[in-house]
Amino acid sequence: MDRDTDSGIIDICNSLKKDGLTLEGMTVLITGGAGFIGSWTCETLLNLGARVICLDNFASGLKDNISHLESDEDFTFIKHDISKPIRIDKKLDIVMHMASRASPFEFDKFPIQILKANTLGIWVALGIAKKHGAKFLYTSTSEVYGDPDQRFVPTPETYNGNVNPVGPRSCYDEAKRAGEAFVMAYRSQHGMDTRMVRIFNTYGPKMRADDIYGRVVPRFIEQALNNDPITVFGDGTQTRSFTYITDQVEGILRLASTDKASGEVVNIGNDKERTILDLALMVKELTGSSSDITFHPLPVDDPKRRCPDISKAKRLLKWQPKVGLKEGLLKTINAFKTGGM
Ligand SMILES: NC(=O)c1ccc[n+]([C@@H]2O[C@H](COP(=O)([O-])OP(=O)(O)OC[C@H]3O[C@@H](n4cnc5c(N)ncnc54)[C@H](O)[C@@H]3O)[C@@H](O)[C@H]2O)c1
Repeated sequence: MDRDTDSGIIDICNSLKKDGLTLEGMTVLITGGAGFIGSWTCETLLNLGARVICLDNFASGLKDNISHLESDEDFTFIKHDISKPIRIDKKLDIVMHMASRASPFEFDKFPIQILKANTLGIWVALGIAKKHGAKFLYTSTSEVYGDPDQRFVPTPETYNGNVNPVGPRSCYDEAKRAGEAFVMAYRSQHGMDTRMVRIFNTYGPKMRADDIYGRVVPRFIEQALNNDPITVFGDGTQTRSFTYITDQVEGILRLASTDKASGEVVNIGNDKERTILDLALMVKELTGSSSDITFHPLPVDDPKRRCPDISKAKRLLKWQPKVGLKEGLLKTINAFKTGGM
């Protein structure tokens, strides 16, 4: 498929091709492919000439995210819960395990499903990759670092984390840490080609803003566009670093296709640290909103600072973020004004 859009997908394809990285002709299984990052990855892979099998149970993903791909003969959709066994007959070259609810508001409501997707689910996905002799890529998270010791911000991959195993975020943090341990076990016991990306806050069109799915960027944008109060937790001095979706997808695909990245775990995120209050003010300004900014209690175990050390991604993958926060927010705001896609 070759869609003439200004979404940035064509730029990712050109950038990979320029560095001789190819996924053309490969068959890729993406669990969680109907989600935010998954659906962008499916579409980019199709543009690169890959065949895509997208597996999802629509726990938090949307049919609308992939409906425009369904007419492509290289795209197949399977509705399935990956924490239950499944046989895939088509020969696979790569398995990407992305299936997992990922929003802090979902940690309260679906902790068991989150744990299952990153333990039973990754076990099923690794088993499929092993049977096919396929490469395996796992989307882990910056949350494996927990609330990092200030001496390790920006945080390198070598930092082992500061995670509360019995806190409200543990269903996600510890599930992802267990997921990483599963990947390492399959690599050492079965000699599999594995790669892990630790994703830092990623945003862009197709992110859900509704109800419990509202992560900070889409929530602020929805609130600002409706002139509702923009709800900041704590005093807003906690920091995050925000990565635009096309930068994230390019990082993931570079990790999947770079030969010397086998066995590696790599941070992919923007290394410009911002306070949450700055983000709220920026969204208010860019939307021209009359919203007030209101302050609410900080959730338990909310990390104070989050910023990746991306020197490994720069060195190993020749990757660095290209889209600045203002540019990415404007693209996201425009998409939300026209239906979120
Ligand atoms: N977006 C971010 O900022 C971010 C940050 C760190 C890590 N991640 C990771 O990236 C991956 C994708 O996240 P996202 O932001 O696209 O979230 P998302 O909620 O939009 O996508 C997750 C997808 O997984 C599917 N899913 C969940 N459980 C499933 C199951 N048991 N079987 C089959 N499908 C299932 C959902 O329906 C959804 O389509 C997740 O693994 C997440 O933990 C994302």
